[in-house]
Amino acid sequence: MTQNAGIIGMGHAYPSATLTNADLEKIVETSDEWITTRTGIKQRHKAADNEYTSQFGVLAARQALERAGLEPTDVELIVCATTTPDQIMPSTGAIIQAQLGASNAAGMDIFAACSGFLYGLTMVESMIRTGQIRHALVIGAEVLTKYVDYTDRSTCVIFGDGAGAAVLGPVPAEKGILATKIRSDGRYEEQLYAPGGGTKLGTSHKTIDDGLHFFKMKGNELFKVAVRSMAEISAEVIENAGYAVADIDLVVPHQANQRITDAVASRLGVPEEKVYSNIAEHGNTSSASIPIALDECIQTGKIKEGDLVLLTAFGGGATWGSTLIRF
Ligand code: UT7
Repeated sequence: MTQNAGIIGMGHAYPSATLTNADLEKIVETSDEWITTRTGIKQRHKAADNEYTSQFGVLAARQALERAGLEPTDVELIVCATTTPDQIMPSTGAIIQAQLGASNAAGMDIFAACSGFLYGLTMVESMIRTGQIRHALVIGAEVLTKYVDYTDRSTCVIFGDGAGAAVLGPVPAEKGILATKIRSDGRYEEQLYAPGGGTKLGTSHKTIDDGLHFFKMKGNELFKVAVRSMAEISAEVIENAGYAVADIDLVVPHQANQRITDAVASRLGVPEEKVYSNIAEHGNTSSASIPIALDECIQTGKIKEGDLVLLTAFGGGATWGSTLIRF
């Protein structure tokens, strides 16, 4: 007998400041019309200079714990999915652990870009299922805007900041995570990357002058891979769990681009009204996008007890994944 693992509390947080399309029109050569029609984004939240990733992770985690009715000391593992850690060492997961006072937990980070939250769910689910741990926090937290080059219109209009957190714990047999799968293909490395600051190029005046610490993206090359990968892995996960696409009550995809979301839904054969989108308000918040969206759906009653919800993500790496959950 194995133990099913499910989400038993969620929370999210984001900076109060926003950057609208009109603001961006004043910074780079772009237009509200281009951004809206090509991405669906109207605004994104942007951290202030003195705000950083763990702060939003802590806020989201506290809310998730409260809603789960648990204390920080009840959690045995804190997995923080992030591409924009507070610093290279220690992990943002460990920093969040200290801030929460989660003195019985191990804290760690997962680096899987926009798929990081699903990587975290997948790992934690198996640890709960096999009885290694009972309760864990999976957090997606990002301050992407500090890695964005505001002279590069192909990236600066896309990304926003925020965090979402889920408390995972034991749930009855027919509930929780029913199937989950993650994949990567590192041959897509240069399609979305920040080459500077690591052991390969180091940090020097030259890497900084050349802007190598900023995200660089070949968005149109990733677009088709993203649609194909998310649709394929979602179909596989639905089938592995013994369901059909028609059984799905709601799809909560990574919010990369409204056109990507629409194309994935169309490939899968899921009607528009069963697909959640908040990209207009938040932009692309990488690993935070799914937990923020999922929490919004739970808080607004869009997800009800018993609903079958499909999550799917694609991100730099390339990484991708899908998770099917019965709430
Ligand atoms: O988060 C997960 C990983 N990331 C993704 O999955 C990203 C996937 N890709 C995308 O979302 C889209 O490719 C973008 C939104 C990034 C770009 O949209 P696109 O429709 O693929 O545009 P494009 O890159 O093919 O560029 C089309 C044109 C180009 O002009 P020319 O060469 O046709 O004259 C660009 O220079 O649009 C131009 N352009 C812009 N124009 C106004 C690119 N960015 C902008 C901009 N404003 N912000």
